[in-house]
This record gives sequence, C-alpha cells and structure tokens, in this order.
Amino acid sequence: MKLLVVGSGGREHALAWKLAQAPRAQLVYVAPGNGGTAQDERLLNVDITEPEALADFVEKEQVAFTVVGPEAPLAAGIVNLFRQRGLKIFGPTREAAQLESSKDFAKAFMKRHGIPTAEYETFSELAAAHAYLEQKGAPIVIKADGLAAGKGVVVAQTLEEAHAAVDMMLADNKLGDAGARVVIEAFLEGEEASFIVMVDGKHVLPLASSQDHKRLLDGDQGPNTGGMGAYSPAPIVTPQLHARVMREIILPTVRGMESDGIRYTGFLYAGLMIDAQGNPKTLEFNCRMGDPETQPIMARLKGDFSKVIEQAIAGTLDTVELTWDRRTALGVVLAAHNYPETPRKGDRINGIPAETEEAVTFHAGTTLTDGKLLTSGGRVLCVVGLSDSVRGAQSVVYETVNQISFDGMQYRRDIGHRAIGRKH
Ligand code: AMP
Ligand code: GLY
Repeated sequence: MKLLVVGSGGREHALAWKLAQAPRAQLVYVAPGNGGTAQDERLLNVDITEPEALADFVEKEQVAFTVVGPEAPLAAGIVNLFRQRGLKIFGPTREAAQLESSKDFAKAFMKRHGIPTAEYETFSELAAAHAYLEQKGAPIVIKADGLAAGKGVVVAQTLEEAHAAVDMMLADNKLGDAGARVVIEAFLEGEEASFIVMVDGKHVLPLASSQDHKRLLDGDQGPNTGGMGAYSPAPIVTPQLHARVMREIILPTVRGMESDGIRYTGFLYAGLMIDAQGNPKTLEFNCRMGDPETQPIMARLKGDFSKVIEQAIAGTLDTVELTWDRRTALGVVLAAHNYPETPRKGDRINGIPAETEEAVTFHAGTTLTDGKLLTSGGRVLCVVGLSDSVRGAQSVVYETVNQISFDGMQYRRDIGHRAIGRKH
C-alpha cells in the first residue's frame, strides 16, 4: 500500500514516520517533504505542491489515501478536489476549514452554538475598531481574520500596542487580505493546552493531550513563534477536564458544524486557555494537527496508524481504540539563526544521531542538497525524547540535542517546565 502525506514540516515528518511503520505500508510519499523525509528509505519526497497535480500523481501511483498536514492546502480546498475525483483523503473541506481560516467565522460559530470562548467583536472600519479598544481597555487581543502564518495575533498589554496593531492590520494592510477584518477579543488568563481530536463527520476520537511552548525564550519570554517545543501528555488535562472539553467544546463543535450544514472531517485542534479554577475556554480552532505537538504525540502512538486513518475516512472512528506509550514524550525545536524574524538558511547540520527506542529527531526546515544536510527554514529540527517522567524525557532530549550542531542553532532549555511545576 502506498500513502501520501502533504506538507514539509516536522509535523509531516512525524506523520509519515508513523504511517511508514504500518506493516502494509510499502512506501509513504511526502509532498514536498524535507531533508529528513529525503533520508528515510521508507519515505519518498515528491516535488509537487499544486493540488490538481497531486491528484494526478495519486491516481497514477495508486496511492491508497492522502493525509494533509498544513492548513493552507485545506483552506484552498484540496479535500474538495480529491473527493470530487473519488480519491481518499483525510482532512476538512474548504468550508469546514473556515474554523481556522476565518477567525470571524470561528467566533460567530462559537457564539451561535454556546461554545465557551472570549467575548469579541469584529471590525473592518478603523474608527470603530479604535473606539472599541478605548471602551474595553487593555490588556486586549487583536486577531487578523484570515490566515497570517502565525503573525496575525497581537496580545496587547497596553492600549498603545492595541491601537498600533489595529493600524497595522486595517490601515497599513501589513497582512494583506488576511488583516482586512479584525477580531478584537477579551484577554484570557490561564494556562494553554492543545486538545486534538480526529473527526470522521460524526464520531470523535481524541488523541493524547499535549502542550506547546509558543514563546522563543526560556520562561515563556520573547516573541511568539510557531512553537519551540511540546510534550505529551499534558498533566493539566486531567480526566475531569478532558470530559468537560469533550462535552462543552469538541462535541458541540462537531454537532454545530453538522447542523450548520458543514460536516467536519479531519483533525480538529482546539487551542484552550484553562483558568485558575480549571474552566476551559477556546482560544482558537485549527483544522489540522499542531506543529510541534504532532511530534511527541506520534512518538507515543502505538499500533497501525494507517488503519486509524482508513477508519476515519470510512466514517467508523467509533470502532477504533488508540493505545499510547505510557511514557512522556517531549520535543524540543532547534531553530535557525534569527528565527522567528528572518531565519538564516544554508547552515550545515551535523551530528544527528540515529533513532533509538528513547529518542527520534524529526526534520522541518532542512534540505538534502548534493548529499549535504542544510538548514532551509526557521524551525529546523524537533528532537523527541521518551521517558517515564518529564524530567527523564528532558534529559534524553537534551543529551541528544548536545550531539547536534549548526551555526546559529537556538533552542529552549526549559521545555516541559509547567508539567514539572504541576507535579510537585
Ligand atoms: P492563536 O493563533 O489564536 O492561538 O493565538 C496565538 C497565541 O496568542 C495563543 O496561543 C495565546 O498564547 C495568545 N492568545 C490568543 N488569544 C488570546 C486571548 N483571548 N487571551 C490571551 N491570550 C491569547
Ligand atoms: N503549535 C501550534 C500550532 O500548530 O498552531
């Protein structure tokens, strides 16, 4: 059986790595893939990104099914196109992907269906947006409506920053169409967690809990990034909280989409803020898995993932039971010089050790050029370690990290600190 994973990041490397472990998987194509997927003999990079051309490739190669990693092809309708052509694919349609591709769609949806989230208003008029800020005061959060590759959210601590963010999006059009409308919402305090499930249109299968570290620097300081590390499970997601999130957020979302005439299929990721009393609110939806959350989650997943995806496509996720490695998996992102502003490319990467039972290195911004492994993006690698405790997983990871080097390499030394704090 041949499979296809669409995308080129660490998330896609981890998905393809897991799918390739399925005994019946002959080959997993990754389009376009990266330097890590190029090196793995069970994976094969395909230099195609255009959806029609991908569909042609899948037909020609008789690929059994396709899994889509990133949001952009989903928002562009790759699932609609594949289904029209009778090709099996796991992901949301363009319409369903609006939960991520339009913040205004997601907020209006949550309001309509009583799903807990921060209070908000949407604006396209500059003066009205500024007036609303004056009325609400800081801290306050300004979000571009559309997809802005992680640059669309400003958590403003002062009114000055808030006004500047509104000007940046609505007056100066710095984010183009994505920022032509803005959602302004109340600032929520608490701890974040990533709650990711698989949905087949009707049934919901939760994946293991996880937590991401979005800030560049130790102690959750510095600018927001795509994510500098993640671990699974996240002890903040207790069984009680898990049940509440399913009941108050996930199931109403899937049912609400269905009653709005949009069947949701694919991974669904609710970014949660959990307040000091343990009440969860939805910060955002993503219509895909998280990156880097996928890397520790896949490292813990046992069994044949290709069968799980097949059941998801067939609409029979209610018959699937996932089993998880009981150990904690902890992933640390190694980022390029000057990430996140203007990451440098072309640095030679050395020392990545072979995979073991305890540690695996997933690639993201890497290329294999003339046999040389070079950096080619902001987040270069994600090293995942597994151990019985969070601290144990940290030592495995950082031991591995110490063997890897490239010029300008930067990473956080405290991934997992909240889980450790919580366990005392
Ligand atoms: P988003 O892309 O919506 O996840 O936003 C990026 C990050 O901004 C989140 O992971 C949070 O850290 C932060 N954020 C978003 N919305 C809020 C909010 N209403 N209150 C506090 N922080 C927020
Ligand atoms: N790790 C955050 C995200 O994938 O959006």
